[in-house]
Formats: sequence, structure tokens, C-alpha cells
Amino acid sequence: MRGIRTQLMLSHLMAALGPFVILAFCAVYFIEDSYLAGLEKEQVAQARIITSIYLDALGNGRDMPETERLNLARDLRRISRVVGTSVVLLSRDGTVLAGDAPADFATRPEVKAARSGKYSRTLEFDRDTKTQYLAAALPILKNDELVGIIAIRGSTKRVAAEVGSLTSRLIITALVTIAFCVFIAFLFSRSLSKPVRALENACARIARGERRLTIKGPWGAAEIKSLAASFNDMFLKLEAKMQYIGDFVQNLSHELKSPITSIRGASDVLADGALNDPEDAKLFVDNISRETERLQNLVFDILDLGRLENDALVMKLERIEFPLIVENAYAGVKGRLLGRKVDVDIEYDEVPLEVKVNVQWFERVVKNLLTNAIKHTPDGGSIEVKVRHEGEFLRTTVADTGCGIPREDLPRIFDRFYAREQGDKSAPKGTGLGLAIAKNIVELHRGKIKAENRVEGGAVFSFTLPLAPPLPDASTPPPNKPRPAA
Ligand SMILES: Nc1ncnc2c1ncn2[C@@H]1O[C@H](COP(=O)(O)OP(=O)(O)OP(=O)(O)O)[C@@H](O)[C@H]1O
Ligand SMILES: [Mg+2]
Repeated sequence: MRGIRTQLMLSHLMAALGPFVILAFCAVYFIEDSYLAGLEKEQVAQARIITSIYLDALGNGRDMPETERLNLARDLRRISRVVGTSVVLLSRDGTVLAGDAPADFATRPEVKAARSGKYSRTLEFDRDTKTQYLAAALPILKNDELVGIIAIRGSTKRVAAEVGSLTSRLIITALVTIAFCVFIAFLFSRSLSKPVRALENACARIARGERRLTIKGPWGAAEIKSLAASFNDMFLKLEAKMQYIGDFVQNLSHELKSPITSIRGASDVLADGALNDPEDAKLFVDNISRETERLQNLVFDILDLGRLENDALVMKLERIEFPLIVENAYAGVKGRLLGRKVDVDIEYDEVPLEVKVNVQWFERVVKNLLTNAIKHTPDGGSIEVKVRHEGEFLRTTVADTGCGIPREDLPRIFDRFYAREQGDKSAPKGTGLGLAIAKNIVELHRGKIKAENRVEGGAVFSFTLPLAPPLPDASTPPPNKPRPAA
């Protein structure tokens, strides 16, 4: 298979040389034609001069006396020698009066045409002398009456010589042009194929497992430059993804390790005799139960994250008043407040707050924000939930009076596996995936989520969601439809 460079060179050469060759052929053809036309004009002019001299001698088509004919023949021979063409004078019936002519001269096409009063010319090739001739015959008219014919015949050698020299000059020009085109095509194809080869090379290196690789210019064409930029961009993203997967696996193994070690340790202690002491047994069984719950949460969260990435396109959306979701989520986490002295206040704007969302996912978002707030708010504190109308969006805020989030951690709070020790030590340690999942869900619904610290202490999480466009009013019948009978 031909390389890109050869293909480029060939196409450049063809594009440059094709029109040149066509042009050269046309030029030779037209120039030869115009030289022949010039020669013909010259011959006709000579014929007219000779005719004007001998018009009287031809009389009114009468037979010419022999002495006059001999004089005429002698004169014509002389003229022919001087002008370099052969001139033959014929009577109107085709009899040769003067000049060298073969016996069948009167049957020649141009002579025949002249006998019927028309001018005509032909190009003929003489095999013996290997020369081309231009033969023309003109009718000689006197008082509009045909009195004779003059035939004039000259070699086209001069034209051939001119065209030959032109052709050789064109061939030299063609050779110079070819050399020039090859040179330019070589430069062009090299500058175009070089970056493509660099890309090919980089792909091969990546395939061999090389990393941290960027392709650098110089780039010939803008498209190749942008191709290389896209390539670099794609490669960086791929590397970031690979890095993310690596980190994810590392974090995950770390998160799995601690509950598994605890469960293993607790079961070993139980097996070693703690089972016999009811108090000890309860302590370790509780421990196992808590760690198992943590493991279960971790697995469910990871499954959710995976589903979120795949479900994005097939997510089932429903129109729903958002406060309903908040109520359901609250009902789901209320149990955690048993025995705690934490006030929860929920407020909604008194306007329609309808959204089009995946209900299950949003219950999960609100539940996580509420659980986090409950976990971080000490007894005596309070949690405030508000759902507000903000232009084309609604904003839900969950504010607590807990410990807040360390300033330096604020930018990382939505990262996967970001988790700190909880205020409530009895609760199982979180997986640090809840906020990452919440961010994914909110953004999939074209909303934004953020975390801040309150000036008076505590954290406040808020997210926006586009409100569902109002449905056409069911009470107004659409145009052209009859109003139902009352
Ligand atoms: N209201 C809050 N006040 C203070 N810190 C918070 C609050 N909410 C979340 N955080 C911090 O953010 C971390 C991440 O929260 P996230 O919900 O992602 O995970 P988690 O609650 O630890 O685990 P999960 O929600 O998966 O059970 C928490 O560990 C906690 O340190
Ligand atoms: Mg959480």
C-alpha cells in the first residue's frame, strides 16, 4: 500500500502537470493552425497579384495565341522561382495554359471547385519529397465571368520548422516544470506527512504502554494541528480516567479492608471464648453487625455510582411536587432522631414546586443530606430544610448547627471517598460516597449542588433544580375542540 507521502506527491504532480500538458497540446495545435492560415493568406495574395497582371492576357475566356502562352509560361516559371511556390494558370475549362502541372491537374479538388467559381484549398503530403504542401486554387473573374483559374502550391516546411522549434521549447519548459513540481510536491508532502507520522508513532508508543506522552509540532495544516490537539486531549483524559480507576480501586480496597479486619477480629475473639461471656458476646456481635452494615452500604453505594453512570440516558423521569420527595426522605431517616435532642424544621414556598426528576434518586440525595446533618448535629442543635422558588429553578437547602466543614476540605467534600470521623460515634462510619452520588444525580438533572459553612456555625448544603414547565391548562379546551357539555 502506498504511503501518504507518495500519494500526496503523486496527487500534487498530477494536479500541476495535467493542466500544463493539456495547455501545451492546445498551444501547439492552435499555433500550427494560425501559421498555416498566415501561409494561405500569403499565397492567396501572391495569386491575386499574378492574376491582376495577366487578366488582360486571359481575354474573355477566348483561346490564347501560342506565342502569348509561351511568354506567359516563361514569366510564371520566373515568378515561381522568386516567390518559392509553384504557380499554374489554367483556362476556364481546366486546360493548363502555363506552369508545371501533371496531366490530371484539372481533376484536383481545389481546381474543380475553382472551375465552379469557388475558392478552395487542401493540404497534401508528397511521399517522394516527404513534404507537406498547401495547394489553393482561385477562380479568375472578369466582369463577373469566369475567364480562368490560378492554382498556387507552396511547401509548409516553414510552418513545420516554427512548430518544431516551439515544441522543443515547450518540452524543455515541461521538463523544468516537472522538476519544479517534483521539488514543491516533495516539500509539501513532507510537511504534511511528517505530523501524521508523528501521530502514528505516538499511537504505537501508547500501544506499547508508554505514558505521559504529548505530541508536539510543527504542524503543516490546521486540521492536522487540531487532530493532534484532540489526540493530546483524548490521551490526557484517558490518563486521567486510568488514574481515577487506579485511585478508585485503591480507595475501595482501603475502605473494604477496615470492616473486613474488624469482622475477622471480632469473630476470632468470639471463637476464642468471648461467646461464653454474654456481655462480651453482645459487644462483638454488635461490632460485627455495624461493620457488616458499613460493608453493605459501601457495596450499594458503589453499585449506585455505576448505575448512575450507565442510567444517565435511560433514567425514568416523573413530574412531582418536590416537597413530596422531601417528606418521603424525611420519613425514611426520622428513625435516626430517636433519643436525640435535635429539632428539624421543614419549610416550603407556597407556590407550585413541580419538577421532572427520577424520584428514587432524589429521595436518595435528600436522605443523604439529612443523614449527614443528623450525624453532625449535636444534641440541642437544629436542622432547617427549605425548598424555595428561584426563577426557573427551585433551591433546596439543608442547614445544621453542627461542627461544619473544615475550610480546607470544602473543595474536596464532593469527592468520592471523602469522609471524616462523624460527630455521632455510635453510627457506622460513612463510605464517603453519599455526596459524590448526590452531585452526580443533581448534575444529571441539570442542577448544581454546593456546600458552605454558616457564619453562626454548622454546615449548609444546597442544590438547585430546573422547575418543570407548566402543563397546558386542562380547563381550557384546545382550539377547535368542543367544550364538554355541562
Ligand atoms: N452536614 C455536615 N457537616 C459536617 N461535615 C459533613 C456534613 N455532611 C457531610 N460532611 C462531611 O463530608 C463527608 C462526606 O459525606 P458523604 O455523605 O459523602 O459520606 P458519608 O456520609 O461519610 O458516607 P455515606 O453518605 O456514603 O454513608 C462526611 O464524612 C463528613 O465528613
Ligand atoms: Mg452521607
